[in-house]
Order: sequence, then C-alpha cells, then structure tokens
Amino acid sequence: MTSWVFGYGSLIYKVDFPFLERRPATIEGWERRFWQGSHDHRGTPEAPGRVVTLIEAPGVACRGIAYRVEPAVFEHLDHREKNGYVRHHLPITLDGEAAPVWGFLYVAREDNPAFLGPASLDELAAHIAAAEGPSGSNGDYLLALAQALHELESYDAHVHPLAERVDALLASRQGAGRRKAAD
Ligand code: SIN
Repeated sequence: MTSWVFGYGSLIYKVDFPFLERRPATIEGWERRFWQGSHDHRGTPEAPGRVVTLIEAPGVACRGIAYRVEPAVFEHLDHREKNGYVRHHLPITLDGEAAPVWGFLYVAREDNPAFLGPASLDELAAHIAAAEGPSGSNGDYLLALAQALHELESYDAHVHPLAERVDALLASRQGAGRRKAAD
C-alpha cells in the first residue's frame, strides 16, 4: 500500500527517492523553525548546523510538498532523517482537494539529543552562515529552502527573513575574501 509523506524542509527540494505523485500541500497547526541541530548533513558532531523542524502552533498553516510513495521509500527516509526526527501521522491537505489525506512527516521534537532550540534571527543567521557538513553548506540548505518556498508562492515569516540575513552575511564574506585576495 502506498502512503503520503509531507516534506517541509529539504524534502521539498532534495528529492533523492522515487515517488508516484508530488503535490503542493498544507498542514495545519505547525510552523517551521531552524531549531534542530544537524550533525550528519549540514554540520558535524563538533560543529552542528541548524536545520528545520516543526513546532506545534495552533491556527498556523505550513506549506510544503506531499509525495505518494511505496513503503520501501521509508527505509531510505528513516535513514536520511535519522538525526533526531521521528515519523508523525497527520492529515495533509493536497492543493485542489477538499478532504485531507492521512500521511506522515518527519519531526524533530524538543526531547531529541540534537535539538538546539530557539535563538534570535541574528544568532541563527551567524550560525547557519558558518556551518558546513557532508551534504554541503548550511547556508545552501536555507537558501534552497527559501527559494523552494518562493516557487510555491509561500512566504514564511521565519525562513525568508533568515535567508536575507544569511545571504547578506555570505555576500559580505565573499567580498572580504575577494578584497583579501587582491591585497
Ligand atoms: C523535511 O524536509 O520534511 C524534514 C526536514 C529536513 O530534512 O530538512
């Protein structure tokens, strides 16, 4: 039997698994936050990066992409999301459908050992601009997510201001690198 899985972070733009359907979708009562540490993808155990998780937020809608997948795909996803994420079963509203479907998402809850929790936008931006791991830079993760949400025509009041800050930090760092090389 196939299932739906809802992606709200890298699962929106890094699709390294087969799927039968891909649909823009919404879940209710959750919001994205860069509060989860990443030791294995966008950081290291010594210098974790920050990636998104979902925090319960009554009345808030979160946009993402739902995929209909075969059961075997969960082996791959459980491994990919192993650093603190657990599967959660919930209703997902697919764009254009009146009735929700039931499916899964991966959420990193506050009690997982890699959870980092809240910080100011400036602190989050400095952290993300500096971190890097086996899957690439933490800045690229954030900027790719911001771009993917933009393509979904969805403004995220946490992700987009953070992406602007990180973009500016990375640009000023590149400028400094170029000036140093010219010295
Ligand atoms: C997701 O994308 O749905 C989970 C978080 C992540 O892997 O970035």
